[in-house]
Amino acid sequence: MSSLHYFRAKLATLALLSVHIATQAFAVPSGQCPPKFAFELGLTDSSLAEAIKNHPNIGAQLAFGDKNKLGPAVDCKVFPGDEQWPSRQTWNAFNASVEGALIETVPLAAPCYNNWPQRDATRCQAVTDRWSDPRLHVNDPSSTQWPIFQGRTCLPTDDPTRICTLGGYASYSVASTKVSQIQLAINFARNANLRLVVMNTGHDFADKSIGAGALSIWTHNLKDIKYYADYDCKGYKGPAFKLGAGVETEEVYKAAEENEVTVVGGECRTVGLVGGFTAGGGHSPLSSLVGMGADQVLSMEVVLPDGRYATADGNTNPDLFWALRGGGGSTYGVVTSIVIKAYHKMPVTTMTFSFVTSPTVSADTFWAGVNSYFSHFDRFTSAGAYGYFLVVSIGPSQYLFNFMPFWGSNMTAPQLRTLVDPFLADLTKLGVPITPNITEYPSFYTAYVSTFPPEQVGASVGHAASRIFPRENFSQPPKRNATVAAVRYAVDAGGVLIGYNMRSAPNDRQENAVNPAWRKSTGFFILTSPNLPPTATDEEIAAAAETLTTDWMERWRGVSPGGGAYMSEGDINEPDFQGTFYGREVYDRLKALKRRYDPWDLFWVVTGVGSEGWAVAGQREFYPTQNGRLCRRKS
Ligand SMILES: Cc1cc2nc3c(=O)[nH]c(=O)nc-3n(C[C@H](O)[C@H](O)[C@H](O)COP(=O)(O)OP(=O)(O)OC[C@H]3O[C@@H](n4cnc5c(N)ncnc54)[C@H](O)[C@@H]3O)c2cc1C
Ligand SMILES: *[C@@H]1O[C@H](CO)[C@@H](O)[C@H](O)[C@H]1NC(C)=O
Ligand SMILES: *[C@@H]1O[C@H](CO)[C@@H](O)[C@H](O)[C@H]1NC(C)=O
Ligand SMILES: *[C@@H]1O[C@H](CO)[C@@H](O)[C@H](O)[C@H]1NC(C)=O
Ligand SMILES: *[C@@H]1O[C@H](CO)[C@@H](O)[C@H](O)[C@H]1NC(C)=O
Ligand SMILES: *[C@@H]1O[C@H](CO)[C@@H](O)[C@H](O)[C@H]1NC(C)=O
Repeated sequence: MSSLHYFRAKLATLALLSVHIATQAFAVPSGQCPPKFAFELGLTDSSLAEAIKNHPNIGAQLAFGDKNKLGPAVDCKVFPGDEQWPSRQTWNAFNASVEGALIETVPLAAPCYNNWPQRDATRCQAVTDRWSDPRLHVNDPSSTQWPIFQGRTCLPTDDPTRICTLGGYASYSVASTKVSQIQLAINFARNANLRLVVMNTGHDFADKSIGAGALSIWTHNLKDIKYYADYDCKGYKGPAFKLGAGVETEEVYKAAEENEVTVVGGECRTVGLVGGFTAGGGHSPLSSLVGMGADQVLSMEVVLPDGRYATADGNTNPDLFWALRGGGGSTYGVVTSIVIKAYHKMPVTTMTFSFVTSPTVSADTFWAGVNSYFSHFDRFTSAGAYGYFLVVSIGPSQYLFNFMPFWGSNMTAPQLRTLVDPFLADLTKLGVPITPNITEYPSFYTAYVSTFPPEQVGASVGHAASRIFPRENFSQPPKRNATVAAVRYAVDAGGVLIGYNMRSAPNDRQENAVNPAWRKSTGFFILTSPNLPPTATDEEIAAAAETLTTDWMERWRGVSPGGGAYMSEGDINEPDFQGTFYGREVYDRLKALKRRYDPWDLFWVVTGVGSEGWAVAGQREFYPTQNGRLCRRKS
């Protein structure tokens, strides 16, 4: 993420006002639990037996797992080139079993390289031009938004004589359009001891959707969206959406707009709403009003590590249901659809302004302005508001603060004005000039498309860390000053702060595995690593990463004991990731469930539950990539 892009993009956003509703939404009979989607016809013992009979060349390797018959523990997952790596014939037979959905990975930037038959200067240029556009990567089966952790082995280049390799990209993907294909991929990977990854949009900050030598399950095409105006099932009555695993945030927001309701999702248009967002907790412009993304879930369908298809809700597999909402993606299985609550249509009022140091605004006055904003965090979130902002150094002792935007859910313009007046008065008293733009919109979606900047991704040398601060760190003056000092230290050194003033509002579905730090916080801050040129070496990347983790973030951790960090927007080098991303007690419970549901360790992601048992071989300290063989750690 190149952070300053966020601000530049903001300036280019105003053209997005004309909204075109393209997503089809379906109203479905009220007063019932929803039927499964057509694509969710799962394989049972008898239909799998049939499939095995029809594919004799691979049949045995498609069988369901049996926890009572675990084989001997293996040291490593099979890797390309190994004797046990599936032969071409076996891959073909597997491809036939999944009805031709298997894709052999061609890196997105392969057209830039002579060593790929896909070499094509025009396509190379197109990929180069769009590299920072999230959609380019979302629509590709193997690419991710964060090429840094792929190992940078196939970036766009204008030197075609360089060599492009797969690096951390998966070897093969199953472009799934049916649950049965997901079941077969899980069974094959488990029985053949392959590394398995799950790729949705590739937005996770640590690239948890890729892995060298892996078979990947690509969920992107599972786009079904159904709306229930009067859902009435297992204790919840009201509007709800059933969503397939591949739907993206903006697609759901459009469907909600069309049906005159509001749903909880994130700020980025292309983040998947069903996959990592819900699994990781999911923070939203609505969280201060109605809770986290994971709190909205009423039921889930999931393919388990043994290959069987299950429902998880409050009555069926409640322990799994608990873990799948907050315990992280690609850990307990592949979720194929979820049902989430929807809320009434509501007005949203946004406010934008920025302030900067100037001849009349000293550096200390600037930070007093930031301090003043922090002092209102509790009041703003209690009123249901959310703030999305940037703090960045723009020269020696020069700084910029920008709202992207301040967001008042369910608020009219007069209501928002009353809420923010004391804050604006503070800034005026400090002598910080501002020109707030307060605009009321009739709905969430109209506010969203007009005020959120489009994202830029594709950073190949930088990454980010995050911190969920306890509310006392903002509400109590001496603590607040310590927080401001820690923040200023990092910004002075070159870090870019992307901040969220939000809380997790109490919600009746909060019995889940969401990091408890969210429940005690009013401020979540992301911090980028030291700025490096694209030509930086691996050594330089590792050194910058070390500074981020052990110096800048160490100070943030120091002022916020009892806080945490967000696993989906987390530092790949987070020390004690178990306590920080999950909460220690939650982690212990999650790990016990991991052993129960996945005794094979089939699902593995860096910093995931149970991940400490394995590591990608051959990695540099502070710059771990997915480019290497996955092996058990020797204890
Ligand atoms: C620009 C940008 C803006 C963001 N804004 C927000 C925001 O406002 N709020 C917020 O909470 N987060 C935000 N995020 C973080 C985002 O929520 C996470 O990156 C999230 O993990 C993305 O989930 P995904 O499924 O789209 O992506 P992926 O990276 O493809 O998946 C993330 C993880 O979930 C797993 N996974 C995906 N689908 C499934 C599935 N169906 N079953 C099981 N496992 C699965 C993957 O294997 C991976 O481990 C943002 C990220 C970026 C880059
Ligand atoms: C899988 O089969 C389909 C359909 O026959 C084919 O188009 C595709 O290239 C095959 N994939 C691989 C990896 O061979
Ligand atoms: C939005 O505000 C209205 C009226 O002020 C209130 O009745 C409603 O409960 C609020 N919605 C939410 C989700 O809080
Ligand atoms: C305020 O913001 C809205 C929405 O972005 C924009 O249309 C409008 O022109 C802005 N008003 C001013 C005075 O800048
Ligand atoms: C905290 O910082 C503010 C603004 O920088 C300053 O005016 C105030 O005296 C400080 N308070 C304490 C308790 O240090
Ligand atoms: C931040 O809040 C936590 C929890 O209340 C507290 O333990 C910590 O001391 C606070 N930080 C500072 C600098 O006071």
